[in-house]
Amino acid sequence: MKVVVVGGDARAHALAHVLSRSADEVAVSGGNAGMPNAVAAPPEELDADLFVISPEEPLVDGMADRLRAQGKRVYGPGADGAWLEGSKGWMKEVVAKAGVPTARHATFSDAAPALEYLRTMKAPFVIKTDGLAAGKGVLVTESLIEAEDDVKAKLAGASFGDAGRTVVIEEGMTGPELSLLAVCDGRRAVPLSPAQDFKRALDGDRGPNTGGMGAYSPVPIAGDDLVGEVMDRFIEPTLAALRADGIDYRGTLYAGLMLTPDGLKLVEYNVRFGDPEAQVVLPRMSSDLVELLTAAADGDLGGQVPRFVDDAAVCVVGATPGYPEAPRSGALIDALDAIHDVTDALVFCAGVDRDSDGRLVTAGGRVLSIVGFGPTIAAARDRAYEGVHRVAFAGMQFRNDIAAAAAKEET
Ligand code: AMP
Ligand code: GLY
Repeated sequence: MKVVVVGGDARAHALAHVLSRSADEVAVSGGNAGMPNAVAAPPEELDADLFVISPEEPLVDGMADRLRAQGKRVYGPGADGAWLEGSKGWMKEVVAKAGVPTARHATFSDAAPALEYLRTMKAPFVIKTDGLAAGKGVLVTESLIEAEDDVKAKLAGASFGDAGRTVVIEEGMTGPELSLLAVCDGRRAVPLSPAQDFKRALDGDRGPNTGGMGAYSPVPIAGDDLVGEVMDRFIEPTLAALRADGIDYRGTLYAGLMLTPDGLKLVEYNVRFGDPEAQVVLPRMSSDLVELLTAAADGDLGGQVPRFVDDAAVCVVGATPGYPEAPRSGALIDALDAIHDVTDALVFCAGVDRDSDGRLVTAGGRVLSIVGFGPTIAAARDRAYEGVHRVAFAGMQFRNDIAAAAAKEET
């Protein structure tokens, strides 16, 4: 079996790593210099038994449709289903149709009604770009003035270009967050092991939202009952609503959830694996990922039930200085191989390139995902931070508190 993963992110690297356990050959189309099996050719020019598309942009852009039109077997929704992530406004319409609990909200393209609605809300104020913004288009603030400025800048196209010319303003929710990724075959879905990610740039959940600075899995607060509830009340009704619209959704449906005082609520849907959630969830799989994604791509999950080891995984992301506002690239990456000296740790590469002398250098905001494994979250966390201290580049920015609270609660 030959598999092509599409994407240059650390999630694509993790996918390739885990798929390689059972595939005969794995190539990463558009992969980066830190991956062993990167190829430059686009997927349209490659042959394989299965194509797995990692990031959201090509999915929203219809890559899965184009590959399917060539007769290829693809894991990832077509442009119609990927619009769930391409437009937060449309996502909210689908969610309403499906009866999925989510924050009170409204969608605007003009400043006057947007500001009027905003002033009816209570803090914290939440403003989102309608379109794709690499996880950075969401502002959560206690300050009405900051929220008003953000609405104006987004709608004027000043802060996020066209992605912000429509905004969603929503009620602020509180509570722990949870990422539950389900593998869908168009009609049925099966859950993967839950994860929690860390979206803010700085320790203590301060600083701006990022693409994700770390993650861990499993999540002690998310037992089988809670996973069952997410499948029954969120994933399955959403898949049914999509199907009622004629959308044959074959790919990952990622529910970003909040455990609010009023119960579980949806924060967002994504149409691909989480990044960095994939880096902690997929390596924990004890069943076959190639078989699972092939069955979903074929539209028949059959008896597939993803299984996971009990061991925990913790991922710490190393980003360039200045990320997310003004990332500064070009630093030499030291000792990528030193990770092999750390038992039970792996490194997955994202913003990694080669300089003219062939040395690995940073190229982009999030650079490395350093993942540790262990029988407890605390042990996995120790391995991840041991890796962080061996593999580095000048000015590497990382959070010190990934999975710290969960590790503490274990004791
Ligand atoms: P999103 O891209 O929609 O997942 O939002 C990014 C992050 O912003 C989420 O993971 C939450 O931490 C935060 N967030 C989004 N929506 C809300 C909300 N309605 N209330 C509180 N926090 C939110
Ligand atoms: N970890 C957040 C995301 O993948 O969107």
